[in-house]
Amino acid sequence: MAAVIRTENLAVSFDGTTPIFEGLDLAIETGEFVTLVGVSGAGKSTLLRVIADLIPALAGTVDVDIAPDPSRRSIAMVFQAANLMPWRRVRDNITLGLEGIDVSDEVKRERVEWTLNLVGLDGYAERWPYQLSGGQRQRIGIARALAVDPALLLMDEPFGALDAITRTGLQDELLRIWGETRKSVLFVTHDIEEAVYLGDRVLLLGGTPARIFKEYPVTIQRDGRRESAEFVRKVEEVRDGLSEAIAQANNAEMGEPA
Ligand SMILES: Nc1ncnc2c1ncn2[C@@H]1O[C@H](COP(=O)(O)OP(=O)(O)O)[C@@H](O)[C@H]1O
Ligand SMILES: [Mg+2]
Repeated sequence: MAAVIRTENLAVSFDGTTPIFEGLDLAIETGEFVTLVGVSGAGKSTLLRVIADLIPALAGTVDVDIAPDPSRRSIAMVFQAANLMPWRRVRDNITLGLEGIDVSDEVKRERVEWTLNLVGLDGYAERWPYQLSGGQRQRIGIARALAVDPALLLMDEPFGALDAITRTGLQDELLRIWGETRKSVLFVTHDIEEAVYLGDRVLLLGGTPARIFKEYPVTIQRDGRRESAEFVRKVEEVRDGLSEAIAQANNAEMGEPA
């Protein structure tokens, strides 16, 4: 399998000197679902933004291996808040991402139908955002990202603001969509259970400056994963890794050797 995205020795800094993270190497294989965890402020969102080319790297490289296609975007992002435009109907919120892409009105209509169907909201095209629940709004945010038919989907805590039941439902929906579309996904969350439930692999971002501190392959079969004993063990393992990363960061802050 080819890596759809690969970073090498990547560093990002906002003041041009102090790096948020550095020496960061990661690769996401085509069709893989990778989750990324780390404490708040570790640099998860920043990493997604540099991969999406929204901010520059201080050092290192980001290689995107996606064949250019004028009717698609290589990468699309989904955020914690769907940020729907309240004055646009659902249809027009979904086509927002298609502006600047070379597709006909006919294809635009098809993409709206296709993505609404994917997120389980057939028939919602003419609704206004205020007529949707929080979970439905988040689904429209996902539909908007899928409408550009990206090879890589970057998701930044997309379910972080949802209640537990809605969240669990959307996790399963996302896995179904992933199964149907075979997109590559890099999914950020601070919820370790969510990371282990969704991922083929969990990456832990930690340390000061941060790097990929540890990596956990998750080979538990997806059917019944949440209920398996292995799941509980894997969650514990990642939790321990996170504690270790935090302890090291604290030591580094107090000037002790890491
Ligand atoms: N635009 C910015 N300018 C300056 N500092 C920033 C900016 N964005 C993020 N940071 C800092 O970078 C660090 C990592 O932030 P972020 O990537 O949002 O972390 P996470 O998503 O893991 O919570 C934080 O210390 C944050 O304050
Ligand atoms: Mg963040």
